[in-house]
Amino acid sequence: SGSSPLQGKSVVITAGPTREKIDGVRFISNYSSGKMGFAIARAAEKRGALVTLITGPVHLPAPPGVERLDVESALEMNAAAEVFFGKCDLFIGAAAVSDYRPATPIEGKIKKGAENIELTLVKNPDILAGFGRQKSSAQLAVGFALETRTGLDNARKKLAEKNLDLIAFNYFDRKNSGFDVDTNILTLIGCDGMTTELPLLTKDAAAEKLLDAIEQLCLERALN
Ligand code: PMT
Repeated sequence: SGSSPLQGKSVVITAGPTREKIDGVRFISNYSSGKMGFAIARAAEKRGALVTLITGPVHLPAPPGVERLDVESALEMNAAAEVFFGKCDLFIGAAAVSDYRPATPIEGKIKKGAENIELTLVKNPDILAGFGRQKSSAQLAVGFALETRTGLDNARKKLAEKNLDLIAFNYFDRKNSGFDVDTNILTLIGCDGMTTELPLLTKDAAAEKLLDAIEQLCLERALN
């Protein structure tokens, strides 16, 4: 409806896993399906936002009305995202970005031979933290923190370190929560410390709750 503070806002969402090449036929990745990020993109588009969805390799159709950018590695996701840092109103990091990548991907295929071989990994840029570092007071940064049950403090740490306005602490060791399933269990933590535990919800419903909290933030900061 026309009354959403997200109406007409430029929203960038990262989703899915990244793939980090080991050689021409192998990669390091994770179990992210993209479902959570795509659900947020759908919900934001319905609220009238202009949505760009930057996604790693997933098996999901692009939500109607959403601009979709397909990437593979964390470096590619970072380059695609940086284009929007200076001009988006809201950046939501729902992707499971690989923290590390092989230092020197081998061309062709690593041959079987030695009993042990070593793989050196180097750190990837933190995309969301990069946005957090340079955002203006008119821009909002929202992240996820995939943690075990005891990870609430870690989520608060990530919120502060990445200069976020809101973080969704996401249980990965509870049934029907986290990677690949259609449901999720989130706890929303605001930069004012406000904590809202959500029940087990479909990812679509969890996306709506997240956007409700973001709309609330927009109103509090007069960003409507
Ligand atoms: O895709 P699904 O199967 O639906 O699963 C959804 C999900 C579990 C992947 C999603 O809900 C989720 O929790 N995404 C974040 C997972 C994660 O890797 O969290 P993290 O704690 O490593 O990262 C914290 C935040 O920084 C995240 O917002 C992440 O997108 C961002 N980040 C992390 C590393 C990096 N190099 N760049 C980033 O932008």
